[in-house]
Amino acid sequence: MVPFLRILGIETSCDETAAAVVERDADGAPTVRSDVVLSQLEEHSAFGGVVPEIAARAHVEALDTLIDEALKRANVSLSDIDAIAATSGPGLIGGLLVGLMTGKAIAKASGKPLYAINHLEGHALTARLTDRLSFPYLMLLVSGGHTQLILVRGVGNYERWGTTIDDALGEAFDKTAKLLSLPYPGGPAVERAAKDGNPDRFLFPRPLVGEAKLNFSFSGLKTAVRQAATDIAPLTDQDVADICASFQKAVSRTLKDRIGRGLERFKAQFPDVEGGAALVVAGGVAANLEVRGTLQTLCDKNGFRFVAPPLRLCTDNAVMIAWAGLERMASGVEPDDLDVQPRSRWPLDSSAETLLGFGKRGAKA
Ligand code: KG4
Ligand code: ZN
Repeated sequence: MVPFLRILGIETSCDETAAAVVERDADGAPTVRSDVVLSQLEEHSAFGGVVPEIAARAHVEALDTLIDEALKRANVSLSDIDAIAATSGPGLIGGLLVGLMTGKAIAKASGKPLYAINHLEGHALTARLTDRLSFPYLMLLVSGGHTQLILVRGVGNYERWGTTIDDALGEAFDKTAKLLSLPYPGGPAVERAAKDGNPDRFLFPRPLVGEAKLNFSFSGLKTAVRQAATDIAPLTDQDVADICASFQKAVSRTLKDRIGRGLERFKAQFPDVEGGAALVVAGGVAANLEVRGTLQTLCDKNGFRFVAPPLRLCTDNAVMIAWAGLERMASGVEPDDLDVQPRSRWPLDSSAETLLGFGKRGAKA
């Protein structure tokens, strides 16, 4: 029987510095004792995107205080912790170095084991913390850095069914916003503008719709938006709203096709899943109501449960890193050596083919 476990998690792979303390009962029940996230949004917004050097420096400045705060809020000290879990990839190498080296230093000083966590595994296992989901299930990760459809078979057992061959979906939202002079981050701005727009005014491409392989492509969509904006410039507010609404419609149609095929494939492969089939969504784009609505409808039609963890745990955080560490520890995975190195590229499924571009902003992963 697995004993009660408590882990300190550290996340620094992109533009959020985060620390958390999470526990796992002997029966697998989780408790989030603390969850501290410091977003660097303001540092990067003037540049319209994440600047790796600024991100690394900001992580260095904030991490120690954040870890202290996470321990304090959890009302525990380092001696009460069973292990340290730190993100060691994929992501921006400067930030990964800061988080992993800090994790190693704490592990060395305290004599506690270290788990070097794949950030994508953190996203993949979050639904087991929030909804106690059993394996297998499908996970769609749609963030600024990733667009991946992953079959989650078990702890450490992942199959990548699809990924983007160029831009990540969040990146497409951000670039569209930039083209239209909307503020950064672009996703929420595009969604707001789309509310007053006509989704049928522009027929933007639905990339890869109909393809048997479950990959995604969003750079053509971005080019089509640029072309439309150039053709009708100068843009009125209504033009911007119409472009945003048409862009979101193209995104929804693409997701409907790609994910719809994914659900069919899952059903064919796993006709009798305990507790029913489920699709989990994670990543910042999961905040988008049209995207959510599309996925919910698809799931309803196909008899899938649609699981969207609270947004705070869908976007980057250290709770998911601590939880991935707990899952690894509870399933008997050995901790990592202290000479483990960060990896800017680290696919969850090492057998998946490498695709051009593959959608990791800054550090292609
Ligand atoms: O998971 P996330 O917070 O972190 C990173 O990828 O670093 O995702 C951020 C992405 C950004 O590209 C942002 O524009 C997008 O998620 N996003 C949205 C919305 N809110 C955030 N995209 C579409 N609609 C939204 N409401
Ligand atoms: Zn992430």
